[in-house]
Amino acid sequence: MFAVFATVLCLVSVSRSAPLACENLVRPLERLDPLHLEGRWTLVAGSLNDSADAATLKGRDSVTIDFNNSTYTQVNRVGDKCDYDLLNITFEGHIMSLQTRNYNFSGTFFQTSCPDCAVLSLDVKSQSFKSVDLYLFSRRREVKPKEMEDFRAQVECLNMPAPVVMDPTKELCPEQVHNTDDASQSASRRCFLNNLQCK
Ligand SMILES: *[C@@H]1O[C@H](CO)[C@@H](O)[C@H](O)[C@H]1NC(C)=O
Ligand SMILES: *[C@@H]1O[C@H](CO)[C@@H](O)[C@H](O)[C@H]1NC(C)=O
Ligand SMILES: *[C@@H]1O[C@H](CO)[C@@H](O)[C@H](O)[C@H]1NC(C)=O
Ligand SMILES: *[C@@H]1O[C@H](CO)[C@@H](O)[C@H](O)[C@H]1NC(C)=O
Ligand SMILES: *[C@@H]1O[C@H](CO)[C@@H](O)[C@H](O)[C@H]1NC(C)=O
Repeated sequence: MFAVFATVLCLVSVSRSAPLACENLVRPLERLDPLHLEGRWTLVAGSLNDSADAATLKGRDSVTIDFNNSTYTQVNRVGDKCDYDLLNITFEGHIMSLQTRNYNFSGTFFQTSCPDCAVLSLDVKSQSFKSVDLYLFSRRREVKPKEMEDFRAQVECLNMPAPVVMDPTKELCPEQVHNTDDASQSASRRCFLNNLQCK
């Protein structure tokens, strides 16, 4: 089931002292079968080039994403509050696209040394705003130090800021069943991974 993410680079065999070549570290996955994304992923860390977005992410206790066929649900927890945002996603080759009324999101999955992780680079665009985020998701709450180190290396290769690392002891929100009302409510909001201004 996790075959896509098991197609890892041979990072493990490379000596720790030698800096890993960036061209190997930031290689997009060539094929992405959406089915391998099915189910729940926990956000482990995120590097966001927009500092306001990064600050918002820091204020969140936990973030999960659930892929269900062509539907994507993001759940943010802040304190006792759980926000559910449901969006449709489309795949074209290895590019994942999401749209809200004002924002277009274009995601690329990168190779990762971590067997049950997904590294997602996300371009966010509106008419007046552009940002890039790099996220590390896992089926686990927390990854091994070596896996985090490899993610940090990817972040550096992409010249992105130091990642926000989520606290694995904070509670996750419960899963929510498919609900189309939520979908229409969130359609006009920019309430994606990075963000915050969920108006
Ligand atoms: C996913 O959606 C497609 C088209 O909408 C449908 O044919 C298929 O049965 C769905 N698969 C699952 C697992 O829900
Ligand atoms: C989002 O993409 C669509 C089609 O690709 C385009 O028509 C639209 O103008 C874009 N919206 C923004 C806010 O960039
Ligand atoms: C983030 O990256 C995007 C795309 O490269 C760029 O347009 C934007 O200005 C960057 N933002 C910051 C705060 O550097
Ligand atoms: C997944 O989507 C299908 C419809 O495509 C829906 O019937 C099912 O309840 C959803 N599963 C979850 C866990 O939301
Ligand atoms: C997702 O797609 C379904 C069916 O194509 C549509 O009814 C729904 O409004 C869409 N949801 C969003 C948030 O765009």
